[in-house]
This record gives sequence, C-alpha cells and structure tokens, in this order.
Amino acid sequence: MSEHLIGLLLGAEEDWPRAFEELLRRVGPVTAPDGTTHDLRTERLTIEPFNLRAKPRTDLVIDRLAHWYYHPREWLKKAALMDDVYLLNSPFTFQSMEKHSAYCALMRLGMHVPETVLVPYKNPLDNVRWAYTSAKYNRSFDLDAVAAELGYPMFMKPFDGGGWRGVSMIRDEAALHKSYDESDEMLMHLQKAVDGFEVFARALTIGPETMVMKFQPDKPMHDRYAVAHDFLDPDVGQEAITIAQTVNAFFRWEFNSCEMLVKDGVVYPIDYANACPDVALTSLHYYFPWAIRSLLKWSIFCTVTGRKAKTQVDPDPWFAFADDPTLSYGEKLDAYQRLSDSHFQTEQYREFCETSLSHVDELVLDWVQSDDFDRLLVETVQSTYPAEEHERFLGHFRGLTGMWAHDEAGRLG
Ligand SMILES: Nc1ncnc2c1ncn2[C@@H]1O[C@H](COP(=O)(O)OP(=O)(O)O)[C@@H](O)[C@H]1O
Ligand SMILES: [Mg+2]
Repeated sequence: MSEHLIGLLLGAEEDWPRAFEELLRRVGPVTAPDGTTHDLRTERLTIEPFNLRAKPRTDLVIDRLAHWYYHPREWLKKAALMDDVYLLNSPFTFQSMEKHSAYCALMRLGMHVPETVLVPYKNPLDNVRWAYTSAKYNRSFDLDAVAAELGYPMFMKPFDGGGWRGVSMIRDEAALHKSYDESDEMLMHLQKAVDGFEVFARALTIGPETMVMKFQPDKPMHDRYAVAHDFLDPDVGQEAITIAQTVNAFFRWEFNSCEMLVKDGVVYPIDYANACPDVALTSLHYYFPWAIRSLLKWSIFCTVTGRKAKTQVDPDPWFAFADDPTLSYGEKLDAYQRLSDSHFQTEQYREFCETSLSHVDELVLDWVQSDDFDRLLVETVQSTYPAEEHERFLGHFRGLTGMWAHDEAGRLG
C-alpha cells in the first residue's frame, strides 16, 4: 500500500477544508488502474522556517494562501522545483499570469475580449529613477481622446485585478478623470463595457471539471449564484467551458474561475486569473458538493497516478491554431478543447473516476444528507452571519443543498 499526503495551505476558511477532510477520510484506500492500492491522508500545513533541501512530506498541495503570503509562496516554489510536489495552484502560474497577460493570450486565440487600453500610471512611482525617466520618456497623452476612441460606457480596473479592487464603471469624462485621479499608483486598464449583457456566466474549473454558473453580481453574496440549468444555448455553453479550460490549460491553472458576459450569442471573457477562487459554502450553496467532489477526485487522480506538474507555459501548440487563417473561430475552439483535454488527461481522468472512484458520487450524496454536513452548515452560518439572521440563512442554505441532494439522487437513480 502506498501512502500519500495531501497538504492544505489555508487562511480563514473552515467550511470546504472540513468537507474535504471528511470526504477524503470516507473515500478510504483507492485501487489504481494498475492494481496498486493507495492510502490518502490530508493535513493542514503550518508555516515555519524551512531548509531549501529539506524533503516535503506532501505529494500534492491545495494552496489558498500564497497569492498574498510570501513565505508559503516561496515554500511552494521550492517544493515544485525540487521535489515535484503537485500544486493547485502553482505560484509560477499566478505570478506570471495576471489578468493583462490573459487578455493578451485570449485575444491572440481569437476570443472576444472587449477592446482594452493600458494607460500609464497616474501618479509618480516611489522610486528615485521616476522623475528623470518620466520627464524624458513619458509622452503626454489626451485621456479624453483615448476614451472617446474606446467609447462609453467603459470600465477602469487594475491590470492585475482581483476582488473588485479599484473597479469603476465610467459613463462620461467627469467620471473618467475622477477614477484616473484616484488610481494613484495602480496601473489601470480602460475596457469597453459589454453594455446590456444578457447573462453573466461564472465558470469554476478544477482540473478537467467545469461548472458554468449563472452569476448575479448585483445581488448579495448568498444570492449571487443562481441555481439555473440550461440558461445558455448548448453551443454557447460549450464555448464557455472551452474558454475556461483553455485559460487553465494554457496558463497551467488547476483551480480557477472565469467570468464571461454573454450578449447576442457572443461570449466576452472579462476576468479569469484567480489564484484563490471562492468556494465558500455560503456562496456556492447548491454547487458546493460538486466543487468539493471535483477537488477530491482531481487531487486523488493526480496523486495516485503520479501526474507530473507542468509549471511553465508552452504557447506554441495553441498559437499554431490561433494563427492559422484557414480556421474559423468554431474550428479553433474545437482545437483548443482538444488541447485542453490532452493537457488535463480528461479521458484517463474520466476512466479513473469510473473505475477507481466509482463509490465517490454516492458517498458525497450520503454525506450531504448526513448530520455531519448539517453541523458544518450550522457552524458556517453561525460564524458568517449575525445572530438574528441565523435562522433565515440556515433555512435558505438547507433548502438549496437539499435541492442538490434531491437532484443528485435522481441523477444517480
Ligand atoms: N468590460 C466589462 N463589461 C461589463 N462589465 C464589466 C466589464 N469589466 C468588468 N465588469 C464588471 O466589473 C466587475 C469587476 O471586474 P473584473 O474584471 O471581474 O475585476 P476583478 O478582478 O476585480 O473581479 C465584473 O464582475 C463585472 O460586473
Ligand atoms: Mg471578477
């Protein structure tokens, strides 16, 4: 029996880690396609001095910390480079791939990223070389003219993005100047708004598993993900999946969310570089069991089959299709989907799920219907909302997760 350790690098979250720990325990030993058996354990990692040559005990790490905390980030890089530890996600992905790079890559791949302009910093950078360099090389420009060419309404937002920080919608010159003045030392994109879009689709992808959800950004957190099926035409739905998986396969994301706006049948990707996507029980509700199950299956697949991580981007196979003038957009999407499937070993993964993990769907359903899950729900609601709201939210989330259990029981027959 081989033993494997899955490490969790966590911040303030308790909900999904507890779910993951409990479900991994319930999965028990796994028999791989080659007949070998594997015992998987999980442990929460702590932060302490480390020798760069020390051997880590973990085979795989799910990281939720390194996007802001540099000590564990550097440990992850060491573990990837020296010890082949498999990472969800890798710092080599999220450090090199801010939103701006993703816009560039997706534009070259032919996707409908709205027109976007990067404007220079508004305020001087805190650097002794700034005054000379900017006096000599910063060309003065007419912000109003840049905006007029792009057309109103537009969004001003940081080139690296994340968490709605510094995002504003701009309808006229006064708002344009106000936002630019406030941008201070942030580097900003101006991006044409997809005005009057019909659907905001948010796709959560874990390995080869993608769930495209209908997102309602103007609603409070607990109501943002609508429970909706078939809200996109089948071909638009497939395009959304392909775009999300392309971003991930191209840039080596393992666990990422991708935001797309759909208008008149056109899919506009706007945000897709998220080192730590939201998987909170209180925001995903109905989709929470799917997310944890996918995380579980993909982590087990990678660990048990010894899947090798690829930390560096290899754009050539993608650009070969992107730059081929004889291919239509639809043909390119098909090619990208095949490249994504090959990157994520989608076929092997599905086979593995059917043979080695055939008991997992049933097991997740049982757990969602158990007292243990209800306790997790109660404690999560208690730690998330003020006391006077507990009853209302408990009813709300029990209803939604119960609806998932009902639908899932139907699916499993
Ligand atoms: N081009 C756009 N058209 C329409 N809405 C947009 C556009 N860009 C951003 N938004 C809105 O602003 C929000 C935040 O922008 P986003 O690019 O997702 O930044 P962040 O990385 O901070 O989440 C989006 O969720 C969307 O509601
Ligand atoms: Mg966003």
